[in-house]
Formats: sequence, structure tokens, C-alpha cells
Amino acid sequence: MTTSWSGQHARAGRLGVLFAGLGSISTTLIAGVHAIKTGIGRPIGSLAQLGGLDIGAPGSPKFSYLRDCLDLVALDNLVFGGWDIVKTDAYAAAKRAAVLETGLLETLAPELEKIRPWPGIFDNRFNRRNDITFYKKGRQFLDLADQVRSDILQFQDQNHLDRSVLLWCGSTETYLEPSTAHETLSGFEAAMRQSDHAVIAPSMIYAYAALSLGMPFVNATPSRTVDIPALMELAQRSGAPVAGKDLKTGQTLLKTILAPGLRDRMLGLEGWFSTNILGNADGETLDDPAAFKTKRESKLAVLQSMLRPDLYPELYGRFHHDVRINYYPPAGDNKESWDAIDIFGWLDYPMSIRVDFLCRDSILAAPLLLDLALFMDLAKRADLAGPQEWLAFYFKSPLTSNGKPAEHELSKQLIVLQQQLRRLAGISSATPANA
Ligand SMILES: NC(=O)c1ccc[n+]([C@@H]2O[C@H](COP(=O)([O-])OP(=O)(O)OC[C@H]3O[C@@H](n4cnc5c(N)ncnc54)[C@H](O)[C@@H]3O)[C@@H](O)[C@H]2O)c1
Repeated sequence: MTTSWSGQHARAGRLGVLFAGLGSISTTLIAGVHAIKTGIGRPIGSLAQLGGLDIGAPGSPKFSYLRDCLDLVALDNLVFGGWDIVKTDAYAAAKRAAVLETGLLETLAPELEKIRPWPGIFDNRFNRRNDITFYKKGRQFLDLADQVRSDILQFQDQNHLDRSVLLWCGSTETYLEPSTAHETLSGFEAAMRQSDHAVIAPSMIYAYAALSLGMPFVNATPSRTVDIPALMELAQRSGAPVAGKDLKTGQTLLKTILAPGLRDRMLGLEGWFSTNILGNADGETLDDPAAFKTKRESKLAVLQSMLRPDLYPELYGRFHHDVRINYYPPAGDNKESWDAIDIFGWLDYPMSIRVDFLCRDSILAAPLLLDLALFMDLAKRADLAGPQEWLAFYFKSPLTSNGKPAEHELSKQLIVLQQQLRRLAGISSATPANA
């Protein structure tokens, strides 16, 4: 292999990548970056590391790797840290997650053991675990946010960082209805001055802390977190980019590739039944119906928006769509996602498609987290604040501004992403942001 993954773009400085939740997806990213830097792994799945862009003038295409035309922070200059509600280190957490082989983890142990989380924010109304002792205490939620802010500032100082991004990668929280306290920043801050307001989830406190420092914030999970007007208002005011929610990794990725193809051929849909069999900690969390409600909402929305039953009622006016998750410990992180798709064609003749994706959840998620950390940092340096719709490519339920419907189609999301990357690369022929 001749490509060098590190050492590029030293001028982009040093970036702190902070995870709230040091579990399977975050430790798979951290271990992966160390493996790649030492030449024992490759960044497969990362657009930032492997993808290309047309940087030519209209009519004269010219290919460039993103890593060559964008001022991305080099892998050598990423410094990892974070919070968890379990006292651990990244080596022990990665071992428990059992995504990567023991031999690889042993090799990386000296680097991984150095990463020890700060106590996280825990509230058992949002996470039903009853064995948690490693968490921050405070009189009110604002005190907890202050402690998160001082963890961040101290970390930046100790590691001589130029900037940081915060990625929420904690367990899916129990379903939270929107409430009036979420509507405005002043209402939210009033609720933050209490200690037992059931409308403030732990993930919102991390988000509040990061955004108030103007730091980019990513919600990798389906939890509501930053998807409330109050925190969007804070992001705009403080100049912080936000992105979410719920990484588009396995089944939904395939859904957003397949469904537009069926629609483009004007094939009808009778039903789409999706089930998942997984045995990792995420699967265990999602075994709780209250947490699964959050995930289900995020997984169900995609088909309606791509198939447009409003435009094509004969084809898509009456399809059944269901999504299930089955926790089955022997499967570990190697999730099986199974789809039964019942379609109809010419003269209403029925046909069926079966998709059986034997995937690896965190192996699919880690490169998305890496891209998001690097691209959100670019967004921050380009003074982009609020929801970064151009990053919809990475999410099951992309955040949009002003309640605009989200784009779910992967190919359309990629076009938007590439247009924005061309702008960030300073290509003068790039389409203007609002085109
Ligand atoms: N794995 C995937 O492909 C994938 C895809 C999309 C979304 N997600 C979402 O990403 C999240 C993380 O997934 P995972 O597989 O790494 O899960 P995991 O269970 O392995 O890790 C979650 C970690 O978060 C910690 N945690 C829980 N609540 C916390 C809090 N309040 N503060 C700090 N830490 C907290 C847990 O102790 C655990 O270490 C989940 O919400 C999952 O639904 C995962």
C-alpha cells in the first residue's frame, strides 16, 4: 500500500474527537484510526479518506481525492476522549464490544488504554440500567453542563488542540415526546435550572454544553437530543454546526438504495417487512420497547418520503411497512438484517425480493463517524452553523432547518454532499449553496 493516511494537511491543526458513549461504534473508530495510522488497516468505507470529487470546470471533468483537495485534519492529528457511565478505558470497552479481533486489540492496547472516559450524565428515566454509579452529580442540569464544558476545555488545553467536535454515541434513550420546554432556548434553560425535569435527556445536556462553546455536535443515535428548536436556536447563536440523527448503516442504507430503483421503474409496493437479528449492547438496549420506539420512528420514515404515495397512489398508496429488532446474543455485533419486499408489476402480477444482509454494525458505522468528525470540523471552519443538511447522506433521519422534509435517497444525498464539498474546496464553479 503506497497511500499515506497520516501527515497530510498539518496546517488544519489538531482536532479533539470527543465521544459521549465509549461503546462499540466509538471504540471501533478509535482502534481503526490507530490501526490505519500504523499501516495495519485500511479506511474502507470512509469517503473522506478514499472518496473523490470532480474539481474541474463545467465540461472538463478533473478527478481529485477528497484528501488532496480539502483541508482535512490528518489522522495523526486526531486526539480522542470522551464520557461514559461505566468506568472503563477504550481497550476494555473495545474488548467488551467484541467487534475487532483480540490480536488486533492487543497490538493497539497501549494506545487504547490511555483513553479513559470522564463520568457521564445518567438518568434512569432515559436508560433503564440499574447498575450505574459512574456519573456526574449536580444540583441542577446546568451544573452538569458546566462540568461537561470544563472537561472539554481542560482536554483541549492538555492536548494542545485547535478545535474539537462532540459525537453523541451513547445508548438509545427512551422515547421522549416534544415538549414546550424544547421550543425556545429560554424555556429550555429554565428547565435546565432544575434537576428533575423529565423533558431534559442526558444527551441534550452534552449537546447544550458543546453548542454553548460553539462546538460541532453530531447525534449518531436515534434519540431526540439536538432535534429540538431550543438547541437549534443555540447552535445558530453560537455558530455551531449540528448533524444527525441515527447513522445510516445497514438495513436503511440498502432501503434507500433499493426503493428509489423500484420507484424509478414504476413498480408497485405491497409490503416491506424488515427485521434485524443482533446481539450487541445496542441490541440489548433496543430490546426495551421504550428505546425501540425511538429507533422504530427513525427507521419507518424513509419509505414514505422516497416512494411518494401522494404522487403515485396506485403504486404506493397502501403498502405495509414494519421494522423489528430481535435481540439474539449469539449474533454479537454481526447483525443480520432481513427484508421481505413484496412488489407488483405489469397487470398487477406479484413478485418478491428477499434481502439477507449479514453485516457488521460497528464496522459500517465507524467510517461514517470519521467522515462526520472531519466534515463537521470543515463546516465549523467555514462558519456554517445549525443543521448541516448536506450531511444527510450519513443519517436515517436527517436534520433539516425550519421543518423542511428530509431527503432520504442516497444518490440525491451524495450529489448535495459533493456540491458542498466542492464549495468547501474553494472550487469557483461549484453550485451556490441555495441552488
Ligand atoms: N452500530 C451501528 O451501526 C449504529 C448505527 C446507527 C446508530 N447507532 C446508535 O449508536 C449508539 C451507540 O451504538 P453502539 O453499538 O456503540 O452501542 P453500545 O451499547 O456498544 O455503546 C453505548 C455506550 O454508551 C454508554 N452510555 C450510555 N448512556 C450514556 C450516557 N448518558 N453518557 C455517556 N455514555 C453513555 C454505554 O455505557 C456504552 O458504553 C446507539 O444509540 C445506536 O442505536 C448504531
